[in-house]
Amino acid sequence: KEIGVENMALWAGRFKKEINANVNAFNSSISFDARMYKHDIMGSQAHAKMLAKQGIISRQNLTEILKGLDDILCELENGDLLFDPHAEDIHMFIEAELTKRYPESGKKLHTARSRNDQVALDLRLYTRDEIKDIQGMLMELMQVLINQAKGHTHTIMCGYTHLQRAQPITFAHHLMAYVEMFYRDYTRLDDCMKRLNVSPLGSGALATTTYPIDRHFVAQELHMNDIMYNSLDGVSDRDYAIELANDLAMIMMHLSRLSEEIILWCSWEFKYIELDDAYATGSSIMPQKKNPDIAELVRGKSARVINDVSTLLTMMKGLPLAYNKDMQEDKETLFDAIDQVKLCLPVFSDMINTMKVNKQRMQECAAKGFINATDCADYLVKKGKAFRDAYKTTGQLVAYCIDHDEVLETLPLDIYKSFDEVFEKDVYQAISLLTCVENRVVDGGPAPQTCQKAIARMEKQLEALNHD
Ligand code: ARG
Repeated sequence: KEIGVENMALWAGRFKKEINANVNAFNSSISFDARMYKHDIMGSQAHAKMLAKQGIISRQNLTEILKGLDDILCELENGDLLFDPHAEDIHMFIEAELTKRYPESGKKLHTARSRNDQVALDLRLYTRDEIKDIQGMLMELMQVLINQAKGHTHTIMCGYTHLQRAQPITFAHHLMAYVEMFYRDYTRLDDCMKRLNVSPLGSGALATTTYPIDRHFVAQELHMNDIMYNSLDGVSDRDYAIELANDLAMIMMHLSRLSEEIILWCSWEFKYIELDDAYATGSSIMPQKKNPDIAELVRGKSARVINDVSTLLTMMKGLPLAYNKDMQEDKETLFDAIDQVKLCLPVFSDMINTMKVNKQRMQECAAKGFINATDCADYLVKKGKAFRDAYKTTGQLVAYCIDHDEVLETLPLDIYKSFDEVFEKDVYQAISLLTCVENRVVDGGPAPQTCQKAIARMEKQLEALNHD
């Protein structure tokens, strides 16, 4: 059942006319801030408890307010109560609904509070929950990547710089690079949470209030770390929203880079991986096609999340203190960033989890393409040559190979020797891709046992996050 337009807004006292219907629709934010209903109720209940504790409202008022808000929450969740699309925003809607049920108590709820500190609080409470959700999804993605990596610590792969064949690595090492990124993303959200989880309630419209309120009590009720210590800042700070959007943009940027690689890897030219049929799409005209739509869409969506950061910064940069209605625009933007990330992460994890890796093909592609040239130079250095000389000799060897359609792996020893006498038979062992990878045991390197150590270390770090 829908509730009709209120005859007059809650703030109607000063006005002689009802608001123009178009202006009301233009001004209203309920279509998008309704999603904060739970947090608005939670904040109001904490506020009411504080008012009663301080003797500002009666125990009877408190009982009715808590009951009324509990009922509203319950009815909204089970669909017995619908949001009024004509309400100005979620805050007004819930207060009006409460007042309908308990007129005397409902009218007291807004004592010592303004919508300015109310909305500032609600958005913090709302984003706090979303951050936890997103962290759970990041954790899932990291675990999926680690599982794939564990099966490929010996899978030789060509590593690139400038998208040119560079040095041999393993597929596990490559995947673990992304786990490091997502781990930073996870902890970045923790940092954001610290600054976000403080209570602006009690800032009032801009200059607090004359009632003897207890701001710390409200913060504790809501499991917030502290209160905000300047009321002007309390109502007009959206740094946490920008910070969160930025953190989300970073996640999308990382997802987008991996998407780009997945798109390349499942091309016919690479064929490093094959996506599961359930996580790819066909073409409406070309029967042979299997398209990596998920990865492309994630890459595409990263653009809009990156833009959300810019929208928020631009929206805020010219605002004088304290609250300005412009700030109502923060929500759709921030919600969009949150929604996109929450759409992308789970489907991306499933895609990674179900993809098949073509070890053989990766290995073949790594071979015979001079990605062991650095190791060939290093071989000469171990035989006493200076690195620059060794580098030059190897460059000449590579040029020779290209001209004669040869590769370092099979170039005859006498030809090696014609470039430098110190070359011996052991050069073939030294430049085998497996050796190249296995010798890179330096911390952070691709050698299988080093990578396994990095995986174990990361798993410990994730375990610690799970226990926080
Ligand atoms: N819907 C408003 C918003 O999102 C709530 C705060 C309104 N405050 C005011 N002074 N008009 O920003």
